[in-house]
Amino acid sequence: ALRIAINTGGGDAPGLNAVIEAVVMSAYNRNWEVYGIKNGYTGLLNTDEIIRLTPDNVRRISSIGGTILGTTNKGNPFQMPIKNMAGEIEIKDVSDKVVENFKRLHLDCLIAVGGDGSLKIAYDFYKKGLPIIGVPKTIDNDLGGTVITFGFDTAVSIATEAIDRLHSTAKSHDRVMVVEVMGRHAGWIALNSGISGAADVILIPEIPFDIEKVCEHIISLDLHGQHYAIVVAAEGSSPIGGRQIDKGKGEIGRQDVVLGGIGEFVAKEIAKKTGKDTRSLVLGHLQRGGSPTTFDRLLALRFGAAAVRMIEKKNFGVMVALDPPDVKAVPLEKVVGSMKKVPIDGDTVKTAREIGICFGD
Ligand code: F6P
Repeated sequence: ALRIAINTGGGDAPGLNAVIEAVVMSAYNRNWEVYGIKNGYTGLLNTDEIIRLTPDNVRRISSIGGTILGTTNKGNPFQMPIKNMAGEIEIKDVSDKVVENFKRLHLDCLIAVGGDGSLKIAYDFYKKGLPIIGVPKTIDNDLGGTVITFGFDTAVSIATEAIDRLHSTAKSHDRVMVVEVMGRHAGWIALNSGISGAADVILIPEIPFDIEKVCEHIISLDLHGQHYAIVVAAEGSSPIGGRQIDKGKGEIGRQDVVLGGIGEFVAKEIAKKTGKDTRSLVLGHLQRGGSPTTFDRLLALRFGAAAVRMIEKKNFGVMVALDPPDVKAVPLEKVVGSMKKVPIDGDTVKTAREIGICFGD
């Protein structure tokens, strides 16, 4: 019987538990054993944090948000912050320890569920000889190699419901409401929820905006009898010239994105320039909490089952990916670092423009 391990890394996303459930059930039906590694790779450094997973642990967890294994953004074994004797934090490479423990536990494969950061770590371990299969996860939907990631549909549904609810209060007060949604590098959540929730303005990182154009649009709506407006801003969106995102640095660093920053900035500018009563809100982690939608549950269950199928075929160093109607394997090498941005000439952006939504460009 094979002994397989699974971990979840990076920010949580609704659907993680569904992947775990499918992996455990598919493995159980092959008479394999499954071990859950707690908090990313932590359980492979401190092996007390490994738990045996059986159908009893996972039955029906697919409908529950979060991850029963825990997760962390700070657990990269290749660059682990560790306190030295003097109490100072040093960055150390402890990846050999992970490999050693993996071998000592006689594990046959690790299923690493995560976003770009976690999949890069998975790829680095694959290069060190570990048999690894990646499962893509991010609410932002910005991972290459797969048509869609689980967690995204849930986030879009929550954001759309929030936007729907803002219409009545905005209209009653003749106000401009600016809602900031997640999406550091890509505007998928803002775009899809903005269109579905009938926003008037959508701001995404892929289309730097001119605040004057945003204000002109709001004033023109006013003149045509619509005295309120809804603006949806992705947290990574920025004005032309980029106050918030330093494009000169190439890859946008986390430190360059001030959570809660852009929505408030846009709201203040609109109030100043149009004289309209304006409010802003940040949806934040609400978009990641709670139960996954049917779509995300099903996708995550399919990803988990496909990962087990790939172990059976000894197809390692790959990531499972949705390529409708199938779930396929794509080499980790191809997906690591391949950010999937909103195509600015794509059908969805075109649709938005044609139904009168302004991008501020
Ligand atoms: O990548 C997923 C994501 O939810 C982003 O949209 C957001 O910027 C970030 O994670 C938030 O991270 P944290 O949970 O560390 O605050």
